[in-house]
Amino acid sequence: MSITTINPSKRAAGASTPSRGGDLVALYPRRERVIAVTGGKGGVGKSTIAVNLAVAYADRGAKTLAVDADFGMADLNLLLGVAPQKNLLDVIGGTRIEDALVSCHGISLLPAANGSYSLESMSDKMRHRAFHAIESLSADFDTLIIDVAAGIGANQTEFAGAAADVVVIVTPEALSLADAYACLKVLFLRQGLRRAYVVPNRVRNKQEGEEVFSRLQSLVSRFLDLELVCLPSVPIDARFNSAAAAGIPVVKAYPDSSAARAIRGIARKLDAVAVPDSRAQATGSFWRELLAMESPEQRKAQK
Ligand SMILES: Nc1ncnc2c1ncn2[C@@H]1O[C@H](COP(=O)(O)OP(=O)(O)OP(=O)(O)O)[C@@H](O)[C@H]1O
Ligand SMILES: [Mg+2]
Repeated sequence: MSITTINPSKRAAGASTPSRGGDLVALYPRRERVIAVTGGKGGVGKSTIAVNLAVAYADRGAKTLAVDADFGMADLNLLLGVAPQKNLLDVIGGTRIEDALVSCHGISLLPAANGSYSLESMSDKMRHRAFHAIESLSADFDTLIIDVAAGIGANQTEFAGAAADVVVIVTPEALSLADAYACLKVLFLRQGLRRAYVVPNRVRNKQEGEEVFSRLQSLVSRFLDLELVCLPSVPIDARFNSAAAAGIPVVKAYPDSSAARAIRGIARKLDAVAVPDSRAQATGSFWRELLAMESPEQRKAQK
């Protein structure tokens, strides 16, 4: 294994020692990643996997920011056991983004507002203000995990479409499969997505995970020119619920569980299979793409 030093300016506070293995060097090279976790359907485990994936990357030395892009129903703060004073809506309203960040479990969280804001009423201008605020953090983080809300509206597709890697969560439920397909179709048609990663969640065993993936794969290959890559599946495990109730991610609360191992496996495989070229500038390209989406009028309106 080659030894790679993590850029000290981006090293997460308290994250220099990986939580497992006792090895003081980084377990793999520092890389920039922008990962959107989506799935179309509600309740399939997007937030659960986003939060655990973020903490898994931080445990390996990456300075990680989790963005709660579910503007209607903020969940990440609950899953992480924190009660933020400020959130993304305050940032859109003029609060400094640094003042809205919360540190927890080795990562930073940019929280969303809870319950009071409907997705439909967020204008393009507000959304792009949010993008600009996140952009200002690009020098401070090397891993950005975005929890994208259920649905296929502009907020969801713009966030997901601009990330270098899109991870789609799908469960064995027929509805989840249909919604994951709809989500992929919209990202393919509107955002030019050509490759997506699939995490089968809440599966009873590995074989069920493979079946879920192949059902989605056969739908996609019939209708879309989109490559799907299967990531390790996540078993159904009641510990996700108890960990969530305690505000501690499973990878921290039960690091030796098969659930935690699956999450770490996802982090590893995602790094191993993602195309290096698209990653090299991942953080930058996320923001460049978002900025490119704006019209000159929109840019002017933000000043
Ligand atoms: N693998 C799993 N095993 C057991 N329970 C799980 C698993 N994954 C998620 N859950 C549980 O399912 C519920 C929904 O998960 P979560 O909130 O992460 O879904 P979501 O897709 O983000 O939902 P929403 O669309 O409402 O934001 C939670 O109670 C969570 O603890
Ligand atoms: Mg959620």
